[in-house]
Amino acid sequence: MIKLLTIIGARPQIIKSAALSRSIKNKFANQIHEVIVHTGQHYDDNMSQVFFDELDIPNPNYNLNAGSGSHGKQTAAMIDGIEEILLIEKPNCIVLYGDTNSTLAGAIAASKIQVPIVHVEAGLRSFNKSMPEEINRIICDRVSTLLFSPTKAGFNNLLKEGFKKNNPGPYSFDNPKIYHCGDVMFDNSLFFSSLTNHSTTVLSDNNLEIGKYVLVTIHRNNNTDEPERLNALFRSINKISNENKIKIILPLHPRTNKLLAQNVSSELYSTIKTNERIKIIPPVSFLEMIALEKNAFLIMTDSGGVQKEACFFKKPCIILRSETEWLELVESGSAVLVDADEDKIINAFLHFKQSKKLKFPNLFGDGNAAGFICKEILKNIK
Ligand code: UD1
Ligand code: UDP
Repeated sequence: MIKLLTIIGARPQIIKSAALSRSIKNKFANQIHEVIVHTGQHYDDNMSQVFFDELDIPNPNYNLNAGSGSHGKQTAAMIDGIEEILLIEKPNCIVLYGDTNSTLAGAIAASKIQVPIVHVEAGLRSFNKSMPEEINRIICDRVSTLLFSPTKAGFNNLLKEGFKKNNPGPYSFDNPKIYHCGDVMFDNSLFFSSLTNHSTTVLSDNNLEIGKYVLVTIHRNNNTDEPERLNALFRSINKISNENKIKIILPLHPRTNKLLAQNVSSELYSTIKTNERIKIIPPVSFLEMIALEKNAFLIMTDSGGVQKEACFFKKPCIILRSETEWLELVESGSAVLVDADEDKIINAFLHFKQSKKLKFPNLFGDGNAAGFICKEILKNIK
């Protein structure tokens, strides 16, 4: 039996962790014991607890309650707490997801006391170090022992950075192993997709008809914190809804909700609030989100996860960023990068309105990434 310590903290990590926890419970319960540490980075019920309840994730064994704060303060509180738990639990390895401050804290705490790191979602790069996530993911990859990349592009990034392919074990900090293994988010979307139609009323609750609305999410720090960008995004949303007579639904991240009134001009703010076709709602549960994604006409987002889910559910995606870690989506023609540029956003919408046949390649594996990761952990972590 090996002990694996999982760090989660932000919404997408909680969701991703469901795939591994499910695989451990169903196939590896007598070989892997999972201890879950929630850093408390996200703490509102609709950013955290809802996913435990809905996705059958075991309750965390520890919650550090790190909460919100500057990068330094937040990450420091997490490092402190994670180190203490690692010393008590003495796991065989730590599992880290993605690129948030919770990931970074886990990487620093574990590497300093030589606990092997398994990084799920390794190798992704935006090549833009002004993104806090880019720093977090690079640092985490540099100190990981097993690196699981969801895509070929991620795997190739690691090769370009000097990681080796086909190197023999045993694997360690100084001899890491890299994999291209598919995406645990795809595992989850496949697994939960069939449950959504019966178990959510999010469409009828919001008077939405199948294929007749646009789903929007915005939370990336440059979009929320720079008034010029946030104004351009909301001007575009308003224009698209008016000129195309289409409804827009925005489950809004608390970060954006807090900054909307402050960073959007008062005139635009009241226009949005009084536009009957635009509906801003609190963050929704994962099953509700899948229902919104599956039935949308199109998705506009700056989220990493939602970009991919758009492709999983064969929806065109307008990416509200200047670059993406998921370049394959753009190369396939099913997604367009528009930054926070009003003209580009509106042109992208018109482009997809006229496009009849889009290609949605299967870039993210076979839905069994979590099982593969568990097997490789068992083979390579002692
Ligand atoms: C974090 C991640 C980002 C990820 C996102 C997923 C970092 C640096 N960023 O960004 O990569 O895409 O999570 O959603 O780790 N807040 C609440 N309630 C909550 C959580 C947050 O009100 O439950 C508000 C607070 O005002 C907080 C702000 O949102 O200051 C930002 O939260 P934080 O966790 O620092 O970053 P995110 O923008 O959520
Ligand atoms: N998500 C959700 N409810 C919402 C918005 C997003 O369940 O209201 C899910 C979404 O389906 C995806 C994940 O959260 O699985 C993406 O998280 P987020 O956009 O916060 O972060 P990112 O992926 O950009 O790091």
